[in-house]
Amino acid sequence: MPEGKTQKITIPLLQNKKKQKEKIVALTAYDFPVAKIVDECGIDLILVGDSLGMVVLGYENTIPVTMEEMIHHTKPVARASKNALVVGDMPYFSFHLSIDESVMNASRFLKEAGAEAVKIEGSSKKRLKLVEALVEAEIPVMGHVGLTPQSIHHFGQFKVKGREVDEAKKIITEAMNLEKAGVFSVVLECIPMEVARIITEKLRVPTIGIGAGPYCDGQILVFHDLVGYSNGYLPKFVKKYADFHELIGRSVKSYIDDVKGGKFPDSKYSYHLKTDEIAELIRNEAEALGKKKK
Ligand code: KIV
Repeated sequence: MPEGKTQKITIPLLQNKKKQKEKIVALTAYDFPVAKIVDECGIDLILVGDSLGMVVLGYENTIPVTMEEMIHHTKPVARASKNALVVGDMPYFSFHLSIDESVMNASRFLKEAGAEAVKIEGSSKKRLKLVEALVEAEIPVMGHVGLTPQSIHHFGQFKVKGREVDEAKKIITEAMNLEKAGVFSVVLECIPMEVARIITEKLRVPTIGIGAGPYCDGQILVFHDLVGYSNGYLPKFVKKYADFHELIGRSVKSYIDDVKGGKFPDSKYSYHLKTDEIAELIRNEAEALGKKKK
């Protein structure tokens, strides 16, 4: 690849990165401007995660997120992304009914929204059959094991999975089953790094970690966590690279002070008439307006 040229990221390319031991870097995005910046920076994969619900839409968890909300937010991200692979996250209950309905919902991410793949959480027997059906329908699938936020009511709380031998074995088996069913990659969320390492060594497809330590083939973070856009609780695994919340708050307070203090907008931020004569003319004309004719 000539210097300065960027390369469109495809699934075979991601898989090649694993072979070459080149790290895959992924982020979430939910709108056009963020996706554009992230894409221009050279991120490999953009996930329009259903974390959208908590990060952008203000829901308490990801359960209420709908297909319509996901499609609505995936469209601008796909429009902005020239190189990154765009993956749409299938929301809760969009892939829990019949295989046909689930495939139909997944196809909307590709046909309507412009995504190139979908992600689904979990790896039950039914889920594995669905992965096969999606792959059969030419829809690339990313798996997701470990902490799967759509199972919040099962788990009771968001916490590290796979610390005990049985649970670790279960997660390793789930990841292996997903690979067998045909996923092109697996997200490993909130599991001990030692377990993530075993999975990464066992799988041919790349593992993308979030709270799963350094041995994964790639990493993903929620964009808003990375830049400190949200002011809430941040899990241990998040490294905050900026403080947007503070920066935006400071900017808005300065704007309020400027407007209240008559400092904004000044002449620099205003339009002007071409000459003083025109201004005078308009003033005279305006004075005449509304005066009663005798
Ligand atoms: O919804 C999301 O953003 C995700 C990532 C945390 C992997 O599933």
